[in-house]
Amino acid sequence: MDIRQATVDDLLGMQNANILNLPENYTFKYYLYHALTWPELSYVAVSPKGEIVGYILAKMDEEAVDTPSGHVTSISVLRPYRRLGLANKLMRQSQKSMATLYNAAHITLHVRKSNRAAISLYRDSLGFEVTGVEKGYYADGEDAYQMTLKFEKEV
Ligand code: ACO
Repeated sequence: MDIRQATVDDLLGMQNANILNLPENYTFKYYLYHALTWPELSYVAVSPKGEIVGYILAKMDEEAVDTPSGHVTSISVLRPYRRLGLANKLMRQSQKSMATLYNAAHITLHVRKSNRAAISLYRDSLGFEVTGVEKGYYADGEDAYQMTLKFEKEV
């Protein structure tokens, strides 16, 4: 599986993977905004047939005042391609670019409290910590954990 930087041509495939995997969906314009503003932060995993089987959509936090902060808007991997280490690689690629190109001091994300697989990815594989709980963050009322990775840790 090839992991490479996402281009504008990949955005429909990313949106498709997102719709298949998650209830949090975004307009095409929002994908385009990420790709045009922070082109080095979003990546795709591509099968030998050229199908997009995983993606990370990421950005810099525009409201961060003191220190630059990266943010993962969304990550997912199509079901038949899970537990192959793809999400781990997608996260690390994006983290590296946030740190080296945008001087990010940390990276944040939100995840559903019930999302065991994703929480394990962030906490156990990547070293994120829970830094807050946002009550009723999701449209269906579920709470979110805010998770943070500080970049003095190896990425
Ligand atoms: N159960 C427990 N731990 C898991 C699971 C699982 N089902 N899947 C992954 N992990 C953890 C493990 O620690 C794993 O390491 P290991 O395989 O050495 O044990 C580690 O994550 C890395 O696994 P990967 O193979 O890199 O993860 P994968 O490519 O399967 O993708 C993902 C994980 C993205 C969470 C996938 O299950 C998915 O697409 N789920 C649906 C979409 C989703 O929930 N996305 C995250 C929403 S939050 C957000 O986008 C910010």
